[in-house]
Amino acid sequence: MHILITGAAGMIGAKFLQRLARDPGALGRPVTRLTLADAYPAAAPDGLAAAVEVRVGDLADTGAAAALIAGRPDLVVHLAAVVSGEAEADFEKGYRVNVTGLTALLEEIRAANVAEGYRPRFIYASSIAVHGAPFPERLDDDVAPAPLTSYGTQKAIGELLLADYSRRGIVDGIGLRFPTIVIRPGAPNKAASGFFSGILREPLAGKEAVLPVADTVRHWFASPRSAAGFLVHAATIDLAPLGQKRTLTMPGLSATVAEEIEALRRFAGEAAVALIRREPDPAVARIVAGWPERLDARRAESLGFSADRSFDDIIRAHVDDEGIGAA
Ligand SMILES: NC(=O)c1ccc[n+]([C@@H]2O[C@H](COP(=O)([O-])OP(=O)(O)OC[C@H]3O[C@@H](n4cnc5c(N)ncnc54)[C@H](O)[C@@H]3O)[C@@H](O)[C@H]2O)c1
Repeated sequence: MHILITGAAGMIGAKFLQRLARDPGALGRPVTRLTLADAYPAAAPDGLAAAVEVRVGDLADTGAAAALIAGRPDLVVHLAAVVSGEAEADFEKGYRVNVTGLTALLEEIRAANVAEGYRPRFIYASSIAVHGAPFPERLDDDVAPAPLTSYGTQKAIGELLLADYSRRGIVDGIGLRFPTIVIRPGAPNKAASGFFSGILREPLAGKEAVLPVADTVRHWFASPRSAAGFLVHAATIDLAPLGQKRTLTMPGLSATVAEEIEALRRFAGEAAVALIRREPDPAVARIVAGWPERLDARRAESLGFSADRSFDDIIRAHVDDEGIGAA
């Protein structure tokens, strides 16, 4: 099986690759070839008995998508994206990567589909940012996207493209609306949602973290381990039950900042909690107020997708996966 991963150098790409390395039988058939595409060089994890090709370049550049699809991957995992903060700050870059880059990939597949019937499975990374406040009581897959950001709009456009190219038999497509993934490993990034990870990751490493919003803020989360699990499941299940509705809200955990902090207290004690410095930031608070607090993922759950049950589980997964000791 040949897998193309775009955005392979990113966080979810790295977690998916680690999962494949740990569990080579996860996809039900051997991975013989991997093409890892990103604007930065992706690291192939040790232990994967596959031919690995690392491709560095901008997916939206002319010819880039053609070069990736020329290898006729059986599975395309499309993760490359300009994420929320940057897509809002740089309108052109967001549309270029998130819409033009995706369209270029799908068009290359269409050309090969017309010529030779090529039809890969195509997993598209969408986001709960396709929804915007005010939210209905029940936020499930029957609620039409109403994004309040350019990023959310671009992700919603991608969902529609995926559905249409799937309906026409060009790809066997599935879209996953990821919850906010915590705890994001590595250095803090500038995403407005970054503090949800930072207030756990930094104290667990003995460092100070800034909390810019109230403890009462509630949001929808899943761990990087669950994100990798969503991709594995999406790669293997029968997609016929999806019908024309190709995108699914992924399961997650609805929790408040206070609940995150309580889980940190249980795991690492008072000293770790004391490293969280409250520094209200009205701009961040305003952005966060436009995000969903909980979603209804019963459709995905009925198809076998599952996620973390508590922040205790999420902290434990982070500590185990990143090799961090408790404070
Ligand atoms: N992490 C989350 O909480 C979350 C939530 C919802 C949706 N998602 C989506 O999941 C996907 C992966 O997320 P992530 O957290 O791993 O993001 P990430 O930022 O860590 O990784 C994205 C990768 O895409 C690459 N990229 C960006 N523009 C590119 C271009 N023009 N050409 C080639 N590569 C390019 C980046 O270099 C980066 O390595 C993204 O599509 C994101 O929108 C993530």
